[in-house]
Amino acid sequence: MAVDAAHPVPPSYPRRVGMDQVPPHVDKTLIRQAGITFSPEFLAAPHKFMADLHDKQPPLFYDVGMMGNAWQAIKHADALHILRNPEVFTNEGATPFPRDPDDYFYFIPQEIDPPHHRKYRNIVDPVFSPQGVLKLEGKIRALANALIDTFIAKGECEFAEDFGRPLPVTVFLDIMGLPQDMRDTFVSWAMDLLHSNNDRAVMQRAMDNITTYLKSAIAGKKAHPDDGVVSLIAHAAPGGVPLSDKEIFGFVCFLFIGGLDTVFATLNNIWLYLAQNPAKVAEMRADPDNINAQVEELLRVWSVTFSGRVLTRDYELRGVRLGKDDRITCILPACNFDPEVFPEPREVNFHRPRQTVLAFTVGVHSCMGAHLARLEIKIALQEWLKRIPEFSLKPGTQVEYRPGGVVGPEAVPLVWTA
Ligand code: HEM
Repeated sequence: MAVDAAHPVPPSYPRRVGMDQVPPHVDKTLIRQAGITFSPEFLAAPHKFMADLHDKQPPLFYDVGMMGNAWQAIKHADALHILRNPEVFTNEGATPFPRDPDDYFYFIPQEIDPPHHRKYRNIVDPVFSPQGVLKLEGKIRALANALIDTFIAKGECEFAEDFGRPLPVTVFLDIMGLPQDMRDTFVSWAMDLLHSNNDRAVMQRAMDNITTYLKSAIAGKKAHPDDGVVSLIAHAAPGGVPLSDKEIFGFVCFLFIGGLDTVFATLNNIWLYLAQNPAKVAEMRADPDNINAQVEELLRVWSVTFSGRVLTRDYELRGVRLGKDDRITCILPACNFDPEVFPEPREVNFHRPRQTVLAFTVGVHSCMGAHLARLEIKIALQEWLKRIPEFSLKPGTQVEYRPGGVVGPEAVPLVWTA
């Protein structure tokens, strides 16, 4: 049933956690405790862990763990099927972030299925369309170079802190019309929400901080409109009907969560790989006209997040019985390593035949920021490779990952000969 975003209600189905909450219809032979996103094995090398799922687990299995019990889909074809059938696999209530049941709201457009979904995307799609984001190209290029200026002569940097974070977060806050001097505070709230090891108290505190801040920012934009996206949403009136306060808040809030951490994590993954693979860097420098295919292949191998859905009815997939209200997660990084679609999946190959890469998902909920993210990654690579000579990981570095729904290394210290 389609939800009414102006009058949100918390989902009625239970959040199941633990072995004693496995519903009876689940085939016992498919139950696992795989530790996806939080186990020591996962955190030691997350992308290897997700690629190896194809050797170690059935294509569809029921994972039980502290992040909540859910079916896990690792086949590319299954993900396409799930993501393209929102009437069976809904987004309504599928987002794990805590909310006050007495002041409930939906994350928009993420938790809204067709037919209402389009109404919201139409408001902001022009800003995030290929043409819309191209207007930002000059600014992003200038920013990338200004950041490189700050460390190039030193012959070293901590990539995540000095480049991977400030580049996309500065661009994002600019687009949203939010203050740059709050950057570190915003990032710390997003980190607590996304990487707290499912500590509901930490997540709730982060959500409270985000809520208080964004409500006051929205009130400010209502009184003093500007050309940022927060103001655009605050003043939107699709079909002549202004959005309600809950719709405005849920929309701005989801953009805030979706926009702060994802490009950052992707850049960190890519630079960590490049620092350890100088031959690939040389190949990229020698073939700059192939940059779009290079970005796509790097996004395939270093995709950072997942697509969660809830079953609207009993359903059979791959001969497996799924039940109404079951949760199901498409492990997008695993799907991008599906050997049936990407032969030699661990190999970074800039000349692969074109296939659907699932980094940004597909279907109605495909990432709204995908064109912006691709442009940022492309510009970052181009400007970096133009100016920084051969670089490598600082000797002695222990690469660490935090548990959470967006997967990337904490820090990437790099060195080169200045
Ligand atoms: C490399 C960077 C990014 C990656 C890998 C990524 C990934 C994704 C994925 C996988 C989804 C679908 C989630 C689902 O199916 O449940 C999604 C949705 C979304 N993303 Fe991104 N994202 C990135 C950057 C961004 C940025 C920069 C923004 C904002 C400016 C953004 C805004 C959104 C929004 C609003 C949605 C919900 C779309 C809808 O429901 O219609 N994303 N993203």
